[in-house]
Formats: sequence, structure tokens, C-alpha cells
Amino acid sequence: MSKHNLFVGCGNMGQAMVAGWLLAGEPNSSFTAVRPSGRPVPGIRTVQRLGELDRAPDRLILGFKPQQLQALAPEVARWVTPQTVVVSMLAGADVATLTRLLPGARAIVRVMPNLPVAVRRGVLPLYTPAHEDKALQAELQPWFSMLGFAPWCASEEEFGAIGFVSGSTPAYVARFIEAFAKAGEGRGLEPGLALTAAREAVLGSAWLAASSGEPMAELARKVTSPNGTTEAGLRVLDAELPGLVDRTLAAATRRSAELAAETRGS
Ligand SMILES: NC(=O)c1ccc[n+]([C@@H]2O[C@H](COP(=O)([O-])OP(=O)(O)OC[C@H]3O[C@@H](n4cnc5c(N)ncnc54)[C@H](OP(=O)(O)O)[C@@H]3O)[C@@H](O)[C@H]2O)c1
Repeated sequence: MSKHNLFVGCGNMGQAMVAGWLLAGEPNSSFTAVRPSGRPVPGIRTVQRLGELDRAPDRLILGFKPQQLQALAPEVARWVTPQTVVVSMLAGADVATLTRLLPGARAIVRVMPNLPVAVRRGVLPLYTPAHEDKALQAELQPWFSMLGFAPWCASEEEFGAIGFVSGSTPAYVARFIEAFAKAGEGRGLEPGLALTAAREAVLGSAWLAASSGEPMAELARKVTSPNGTTEAGLRVLDAELPGLVDRTLAAATRRSAELAAETRGS
């Protein structure tokens, strides 16, 4: 019998994960979602309150906002048994806090998915302090891998670092595509055509980078003739981009620390 996977909160990210799992062929009946709004999650059973459930889940997936953890934990904790695997996608909520608020679970597993899980090309680092539970990792690895690249991290620090590289990247890439499209518009292209050209160029470049396995510098070199147009463009981009990315991730890191303090209740 398949596992019963319960999403407590199933908004943008929860629904992206559900979409990925259903696309991979997981049975609809293995999922339930709790959404106070009552809006259905496409393809799976949706209820408005935890109290409507008739059995405890095998995997309890926390999909609400990190700021809600303190308030929701007492009700959620009632559904945690020694068989429950608690899967938390809450940004900034560390294992110590989750264990304190949701005691008695078989394991606490943190996951930090990014939106392309919906098309099974996500990056979703995993961390659990229950490293020695090899059965747990063997059970969860194929399940999470249905959604993309799902590495187990050796520490919560490593987990956080991968999350920073991948978690918000879909938003950053969306901005990047938009900026190129706007630049195309500025050169007279019709907006739809400019957007399609920019989006497909980014997709093709990422695809080539992933499939060729070549170092990034080598890929860049292949497009860059000495004293040519790309070289002129890169001179500007290289002066700004590393610092810009660093400042972007630093701002996200600061906000994550604030969220972590809020989820700890400090
Ligand atoms: N979005 C991302 O890219 C991303 C990436 C990594 C991790 N995360 C994490 O994923 C979590 C959800 O983010 P999101 O972007 O999916 O947010 P979201 O779209 O706002 O979804 C939040 C969900 O929580 C539900 N909820 C609100 N109050 C609740 C309650 N009292 N009991 C149960 N559920 C309740 C909402 O219900 P309704 O649907 O009924 O309003 C909604 O389904 C966050 O913890 C975030 O840190 C998000």
C-alpha cells in the first residue's frame, strides 16, 4: 500500500511538488492537502481542517509559512506518531526548533525545493539528523528524486547553502529573462517575440550546460571571439555580476536569519 502523504498547507510550492509527483506517476490517492481556504489542490483530496482526517499520515509535509509554525505546531503535533516522517519545507526553521515543537516523530527531514519541481527538474536539498537511519534514506531518496536533483546534505549549513543557490533561482532567472526581453523591445522587437527569444536562449544555454558537461568558462569561450561582440558585452557583465549575485544572496541570507528567529519564537 502506498504511503499517505499529508500537506499541511499546500500553496505555490506544495502544489508544485504535488504536480511533479503526479507527473511521475504517483497515485493521487497517496496525497491529502489541508487548505483553510478550501480551494482544491488539482488532482488530490483537499480538506479545510486537520480535524477532518480519518487516519494519521506516514509523511507529514509542512507547507505553510514559516511565521505560522509557532501557532500551528500544537495542532499539527497531535498527528505526529513514532511512525511519522515530518518533512519541512519551511525556510529558516531549523531541526532543533522543529524537534522541540513537533516531538516524537520517526524523523524530521528538511527539504528546500525550488519551483521547477513541478516539471521534475527541481533542485531540492535534503537534511535529516537521522543519518544512521539508512532505511529512511533508502525510502525517501527515490521519492524525492522524482522531482529532480535531491542530494542529502551532511550538515544543516550545507543544506542552507544549496538552498540559497537554488531556492530563489527561478525568480532570479525570470528577472534575467525579462531584462533581456526588455532590451530586445528597446531595439524594436515586438514584446511577445522578444520574450520568447530571451526565454528560449536561456533554456537552450542551460540545457547545453547540463548536457555537455563542459566547464562554464569553456562554454563562454566558444561564444566569445577575440575582440568580438560577446567579449565586449562580457566585459560589462563580468564587472557587475559576481558582486550583484553576492549582494543578492546576502540579502536573502539576512532575511532567512530573521525568519529563523521568528520561527524559534525569539
Ligand atoms: N515558494 C517558494 O519558492 C518556496 C521555496 C522553498 C520553500 N518554500 C517554503 O514553502 C512554504 C510555503 O510557501 P508558498 O510559497 O507555497 O506559500 P503559499 O503559496 O502562501 O502557501 C501557504 C499555504 O499555507 C496554507 N495555510 C495558511 N494558513 C494555514 C493554516 N492555519 N493551516 C494550514 N495551512 C495553512 C495556505 O492555505 P490556503 O491555500 O488555503 O490559503 C497555503 O496553502 C513556506 O514555508 C516557504 O518557506 C517556498
